[in-house]
Amino acid sequence: MEDRLDGRVALVTGGAQGIGKGITRALLLAGMQVAVADRDAEACQEIVAEYADAERVAVFPVDVAIEAEVADMIGRIVERFGRLDALINNAGHGVGHPVPVETLSLDDWNRVLATNLTGAFLCSKHAVAALRRNRGAIVNIASTRAMQSEPHGEAYAASKGGLVALTHALANSLGPDIRVNAISPGWIAVDDWQKTARCHTPQLRLEDHAQHPVGRVGQPGDIAELVTFLISARAGFITGQNFTVDGGMTRKMIYVS
Ligand SMILES: NC(=O)c1ccc[n+]([C@@H]2O[C@H](COP(=O)([O-])OP(=O)(O)OC[C@H]3O[C@@H](n4cnc5c(N)ncnc54)[C@H](O)[C@@H]3O)[C@@H](O)[C@H]2O)c1
Repeated sequence: MEDRLDGRVALVTGGAQGIGKGITRALLLAGMQVAVADRDAEACQEIVAEYADAERVAVFPVDVAIEAEVADMIGRIVERFGRLDALINNAGHGVGHPVPVETLSLDDWNRVLATNLTGAFLCSKHAVAALRRNRGAIVNIASTRAMQSEPHGEAYAASKGGLVALTHALANSLGPDIRVNAISPGWIAVDDWQKTARCHTPQLRLEDHAQHPVGRVGQPGDIAELVTFLISARAGFITGQNFTVDGGMTRKMIYVS
């Protein structure tokens, strides 16, 4: 991939809200054309309205866990833009409410794995041919919960651990044509990056910010900056890696005093 991103095409899954919306915005600002895959059709429509004048954004209200929808979408992206240079596997089922493993249903376990891990596999699988033509890049949005946990987060933690492993597996299988990296965000406040119906100012306490070594909770732009770098040629010697972006939280020693 060349250094310049303008005119290039990215697919951002879950790109209509939250961190994904921040990534969509950053890539549009970098001059890219962006396909947004998000199963929330209302949020997709708002993205179109927000960026309609740019004519560089296309929305696909698909579920990334359904292979037929993913395969059809990739075909339509290449038809519309003529190429695909970057895939950002960001769509994610959140941590949700903590449920003890004894009562975690198989359906709930499968639902989390389906979006967070299988979705990334399916999008990568169907995007490989198009990405290979342009020596493209994949970025998987994992989580610091791939490396550490609070109680009762088994499905989410396992899905993100799987995503980090999928990252180095794909990097070896798809190199040298396609680079594959992961970003593991810490706490990113996304309440004000939602569709209008549920958009609100994050209710953050001073201690929420202060506990971070950098002195604040993260924002979608913190992740989008690194995505923009990782898909550019400036990151041409980087593949198979997982980058933690968490304001230093996972580097803190925490003992009760
Ligand atoms: N916000 C955080 O603190 C945080 C921390 C670590 C990791 N992450 C990860 O970052 C990613 C984005 O999280 P967020 O906080 O922005 O979430 P969010 O809920 O604000 O946005 C997620 C978007 O993905 C879409 N989506 C969900 N499942 C989908 C599916 N199956 N198919 C298509 N679209 C789907 C949703 O409609 C939504 O628009 C997730 O993978 C999440 O696990 C978030």
